[in-house]
Amino acid sequence: MDLKQGFRSPPAHFATNSIHGGRDVIPWPDGEVVTPIALTTIFRQDPDGPNRFVYGRVGNPTRAVLEGRLASIEGSKYGVAAITAVIHLLNCGDHWIVHDDLYPGVIKELRDMALKMGIETTFVDARYCDRIRAAMQPNTRLVWIEPITNPLLNLVDVEAVARVVQEKEGCVFAVDNTFLTGYFLRPLEFGATLVIYSATKYLNGHNDVTLGYVALNDDAMYEALWNIQQGAGSVPSPFECYLLLRSLKTLPIRMEKHMTNGLAVARYLQAEPHVEKVIHPGLDDYSSSALLRHQCSGYSGMVAFYLRGCAEDAHRFVTSLRVVSNADSLGGCESTAKIPACLGTSYTPEEAALRGITPNLVRMSVGLEDPKDIIADLDQALKSTLTEM
Ligand SMILES: Cc1ncc(COP(=O)(O)O)c(C=O)c1O
Repeated sequence: MDLKQGFRSPPAHFATNSIHGGRDVIPWPDGEVVTPIALTTIFRQDPDGPNRFVYGRVGNPTRAVLEGRLASIEGSKYGVAAITAVIHLLNCGDHWIVHDDLYPGVIKELRDMALKMGIETTFVDARYCDRIRAAMQPNTRLVWIEPITNPLLNLVDVEAVARVVQEKEGCVFAVDNTFLTGYFLRPLEFGATLVIYSATKYLNGHNDVTLGYVALNDDAMYEALWNIQQGAGSVPSPFECYLLLRSLKTLPIRMEKHMTNGLAVARYLQAEPHVEKVIHPGLDDYSSSALLRHQCSGYSGMVAFYLRGCAEDAHRFVTSLRVVSNADSLGGCESTAKIPACLGTSYTPEEAALRGITPNLVRMSVGLEDPKDIIADLDQALKSTLTEM
């Protein structure tokens, strides 16, 4: 069966842009085909100017090509290699609405940061637009969601939320698209103001870079983010930019393979008696299949599943894996598995359990290894650590 039946088409020219996008942002002197790593932090200044680059924190040629490439694959006018800059768009006394089903670690970071800055936060289940509308206040300046949530893979109707946010003048709609990337979902086309990424995950895909990124079309907001980035000084190094440029060349191929490997693993797990329930967008019982096909051109390699067992069983299971690493991150070539209940969170165990994050829940990022080897590894770990079924 065609896995892509009924889905949107992937964005036109995506594969070409992921290899060449932003290439001409810098006229490299010797016709370099692969973007050089410009390590210099200082640039000789022409008194008659204009001088394109002044100082490494303010701008760097390798970073400029990366920002151009990321914007080209996102279909956006601008890209800024900074994520924490977004929260600094808000002022003390502002209010923002945050999706209550974001990754618990992200919720904690956002809540702690907002508290320090005097920003009021309301957590809302963003699958229900009426709840977002009801949470709006005169001082609401930003709504932040994940279109498919981490770890439970709940899907949000981005276009419907955008309509609610647009009812409130001046309110920014930020979508963290880390799980899908612009290859599978283009939130700007559905009305988002900002698209936010942990490029550490699928965009880079090799578990060797930590980097955030924001895509947008709004001129004034671009300037504001750019100023915050320069002021805060949190800019990626030229080497990280080079690594990400290199990784983006294979993004479409990687995403397709994550999707097929993820589905193979989800189907194996669904048939496995040690597993109580599997959540995966490619399975027939996925609750939002029609919306998924309307909004996305595919899905990534994320799978969530509940083991038939207790916290200790789940712990023994993840630590018995050999091909799959018991590790925190996701979206890399290397498969990882993690028990979300054990990750840093601001939820109490009771709150987490109410949200479905119980100690027997495993989140898996299915990588690019041979799916037969991934499945064999899961199989040995399940059979060696869980009681006979
Ligand atoms: C959806 C999502 N957004 C953002 C982040 C934060 O990413 P980083 O570690 O690159 O700051 C994570 C980390 O797990 C994530 O899963």
